[in-house]
Amino acid sequence: MSDKATLEINGKKYEFPIVTGSENEVAIDIKNLRGDTGGVITIDPGYKNTGSCESAITFLDGEKGILRYRGYSIEELAEKADFLEVAYLLIFGELPTQDELNKFHSDIKKHAVVDDDVKKILDAFPKSAHPMGVLASLTSALTAFNPSSVNVDSEEEMYNAIVRILGKFPILVAWTMRKKHGMPLDYGSSSLGYVENILQMMFKRPDEDYTQNKILVNALDKLLILHADHEQNCSTSTVRITGSSHAGLFVSLSAGISALWGPLHGGANQAVLEMLEAIKEDGGDTKKYMAKAKDKDDPFRLMGFGHRVYKNFDPRAKIIKKAADEVLGDLGVEDPILDIAKGLEKEALEDSYFVDRKLYPNVDFYSGIIYRAMGIPTEMFTVMFALGRLPGWISQWREMRMRKEPIGRPRQLYTGETQRPFKEISKR
Ligand code: ACO
Repeated sequence: MSDKATLEINGKKYEFPIVTGSENEVAIDIKNLRGDTGGVITIDPGYKNTGSCESAITFLDGEKGILRYRGYSIEELAEKADFLEVAYLLIFGELPTQDELNKFHSDIKKHAVVDDDVKKILDAFPKSAHPMGVLASLTSALTAFNPSSVNVDSEEEMYNAIVRILGKFPILVAWTMRKKHGMPLDYGSSSLGYVENILQMMFKRPDEDYTQNKILVNALDKLLILHADHEQNCSTSTVRITGSSHAGLFVSLSAGISALWGPLHGGANQAVLEMLEAIKEDGGDTKKYMAKAKDKDDPFRLMGFGHRVYKNFDPRAKIIKKAADEVLGDLGVEDPILDIAKGLEKEALEDSYFVDRKLYPNVDFYSGIIYRAMGIPTEMFTVMFALGRLPGWISQWREMRMRKEPIGRPRQLYTGETQRPFKEISKR
């Protein structure tokens, strides 16, 4: 392949370098386009064809259904690693040795406490507040109690900011749920594993010891690993672009949480369950909802189907579908919602509308079903996604800052009014 791409505008030719990634993906480097051409830009709403950065963290091939973190396949990581190992791998680039992992966990535990004044902020929210709004606010509020900016040239400062947020974030997650249920806030126990402690912080009743259920621990561990990173999606790009102004880590993460909240992104897992509930309430007629999803005059979409990059299948969905069957089987859960989900899945996979558009179930079609079986309320599903995505956001933010990337500032094609004289209010 040629190492240059040629662009012709008004009879004049411009050459741009072609760059290739380590998996032979090809990109045209247009950094000099505007300068060379005297103002021409590219336009690509939704960034379907635009690479915003070079990254060495996550590789995915949507056509082949491949997802790898730092070169390791998601299938192997989900089977053989735990969430904390995967977090370390994403952030620092290599799987940790046992000693490195022990130190990492022990450093995280040292920071697994939040300033008691954070409780006052949490108290000020009404119980009806959506947990994602509360989580975004509390994550941002942490800045008030911690150093706001990190010297990216200091490895120690970077490391401390990372273990600090990995320690504090699960507490905020658990507290948003306990607040909703009027449960006293709990700090869990430093003797537990990272994921066990999350479950204890979320579910421990004040009057009882909490007994860990291995099936739930494994299921949550797997779910968190599957959600841990997904290269330049909406929330991750938000974290990178917010951090590119040198805003601190915590506020950049808070921006990512807000971006994740939307139903077309992380909010889909909540939307899936709400959709399944609505179908059940409406008599369980999946065919009716399939017809609505295909009707161009109806805004209804089959939530949990389709993906911007996976146009074959979502490899995470395959793993999670198996985990969902195991968890529900082991817990002995019989749920009519699950039958509706299976019915919709079967119909969609055989329907030419979905087949032709390559719309397959995505990870969020199944994750909500597992969360529900675990006793996690629907409104908390996207919060659980944020918990899983935290190491991905951190690693992407760290990469962006360490590479000293410039501030993110896209261009636009202006389509508004040209210059016109001001009209006095009496003449409008
Ligand atoms: N139900 C019905 N039709 C759909 C669906 C769906 N879930 N998804 C896409 N389509 C149709 C569109 O109407 C469009 O049809 P057309 O070509 O006849 O106009 C075609 O498929 C392509 O859809 P786009 O919206 O252009 O695809 P895009 O890549 O922009 O969107 C998205 C991907 C947002 C995920 C979309 O499939 C969707 O809305 N899915 C439901 C929400 C969801 O599950 N989101 C979770 C994503 S995974 C995650 O964030 C972890």
